[in-house]
Amino acid sequence: MPRVKLADVSRLLPGILACTLLTAAAAGAAPAARILIAYHSRTGNTEKMAAAVRDGAASVAGVEIVLRKVADATADDIVKADGIVLGTPVEWGNLSAEAKRFLDRVGEALGKAGATYGEGRTAAVFCTAGSPSNGQEMARMSAIAAFLAMRFVIVGGVNQEGFGSLGPQAVTGAKPPGVSDGDRADARRFGERFARLTLQWRAASAPIR
Ligand SMILES: Cc1cc2nc3c(=O)[nH]c(=O)nc-3n(C[C@H](O)[C@H](O)[C@H](O)COP(=O)(O)O)c2cc1C
Repeated sequence: MPRVKLADVSRLLPGILACTLLTAAAAGAAPAARILIAYHSRTGNTEKMAAAVRDGAASVAGVEIVLRKVADATADDIVKADGIVLGTPVEWGNLSAEAKRFLDRVGEALGKAGATYGEGRTAAVFCTAGSPSNGQEMARMSAIAAFLAMRFVIVGGVNQEGFGSLGPQAVTGAKPPGVSDGDRADARRFGERFARLTLQWRAASAPIR
């Protein structure tokens, strides 16, 4: 076995140190992708879905998640977000007024920050509704239309059969369980997908934003 002399080690040390520092700098070069999950919820159903979306997104490395009630999401939260997920209850066949107001604030905040709005950013929507076929499609499509008007790229959900969807949703009904285990699983799967695609899209769009 060759013997290593102390003098050799001390000669190599600066190089080893520089190499270690460079690797650490490269590893820390890409800041975490920031995902804002903003939701409106009167009775807790949409909030449960928001928590499941957060759990799914948190399973992806390199992502920082900000979970906020729509009223608490600040202009800074919006402008710093690489991806925005909006959760809404269906109210009178559409998204709630509070959720719509949040969309207005997204446009306002991004408009003030620059001319590119949602360019290079992802967006998505999920909802809960009291009964089937009573506004889930309309609520999600309305939010998607607003995000598209702001130049976001839309990420949909994936249901249990593997088909794409407008975004996760739950029919909560008048009785428990409200949001089912299957609904939460869909929401978690969507959260993971949203985080993964947001990371990829941010890397691809870096020169645009
Ligand atoms: C004012 C109001 C209007 C509603 N309108 C609808 C509706 O049009 N269609 C529907 O399926 N559910 C409707 N619901 C039921 C809610 O969408 C449902 O209970 C939802 O899960 C509530 O979510 P949250 O607990 O996060 O507030 C309505 C509820 C309220 C309070």
